[in-house]
Amino acid sequence: MNITEATNKIEEKGFLDLDIDVHIDLFAEIERLKKEKNAIVLAHYYQEPDIQDVADYLGDSLGLAQKAQSTNADMIVFAGVHFMAETAKILNPTKKVVLPDLKAGCSLADSAPAAAFKAFKDQHPDHIVISYINCTADIKALSDIICTSGNAEAILNSLPKDQQIIFAPDKNLGGFLNKKTGRNMLLWNGACMVHEIFSLEKITKLKIRHPKAKIIAHPECEEPVLRLADFIGSTTQLLKFSKTDSANEFIVVTETGILHQMQKESPYKTFIPAPPQNSCACNDCPYMKLNTLEKLYLCMEYEKPEIFMEEELRLAAKKPIDRMLDISRAAGLIG
Ligand code: 13P
Ligand code: SF4
Repeated sequence: MNITEATNKIEEKGFLDLDIDVHIDLFAEIERLKKEKNAIVLAHYYQEPDIQDVADYLGDSLGLAQKAQSTNADMIVFAGVHFMAETAKILNPTKKVVLPDLKAGCSLADSAPAAAFKAFKDQHPDHIVISYINCTADIKALSDIICTSGNAEAILNSLPKDQQIIFAPDKNLGGFLNKKTGRNMLLWNGACMVHEIFSLEKITKLKIRHPKAKIIAHPECEEPVLRLADFIGSTTQLLKFSKTDSANEFIVVTETGILHQMQKESPYKTFIPAPPQNSCACNDCPYMKLNTLEKLYLCMEYEKPEIFMEEELRLAAKKPIDRMLDISRAAGLIG
């Protein structure tokens, strides 16, 4: 198949499912393409282990945004979901940004449609809008400041205590922040399908069976689950805690992809994935897991699917992200 045929097939199908020679060494090919095309592979911790292992940079949403902004590579290959690749394009528009599967969306981003959110915002003209980075560029453009789970508290601490705030789209992260900071932010009713589905009952039973295990959870989880946690943080913060804390066993209440790094960084510790309220033993994000090593290779080879954005929208969405990065720098959270 030549490039034109491949490109037509990609455009027709909307994602990559081209046949690949099974004998090909994808790891070696990806390394070759990185050099040939001056490309950088950025990956989120929820990606499959093979993708994490070929990444040039692996991180949480904050780290990935900063890396996307500062890279000198000509092509940013974003092994994550659509809003992450979109953020990379917003911050570094002269680079080609590609995503292995364009259908890698996010239930949380989907829970805030722009028109409905604009109407909600218009009803509260005295409020400023802080949006979690897990949202579309349209929502970012309607926001005053963006935050991630790694810097949300620092962002809130930079604002006067009596500032009225709308927090979108994650009601669980917003509720957690309200409780932690004593604020009373108005919460948009959105949630992440992966973090909402953890089973309180199964986690409690796991803790009874493993009394010495510490429960570590992502703040996108629901309040009753967070109440059980010994430590709550972004993926990078959870990883750091699992490495530095004296416990040898952890019940990990977030997407299972993170266990790969936890086990790599602490090979003698035990990591138990928290079970969801279904028949599965662990909890994968169906969007994150749409990316595969094969699709990563193909998107590097054919430089598609690419992220494009209208300049007016990009500039409007960039403003609140820049504000987030400035506050994060001032708080010493990024370099
Ligand atoms: P962080 O990696 O920033 O904690 O975000 C988690 C997440 O749900 C990404 O989609
Ligand atoms: Fe979105 Fe949740 Fe998947 Fe993260 S884990 S990409 S918030 S659906």
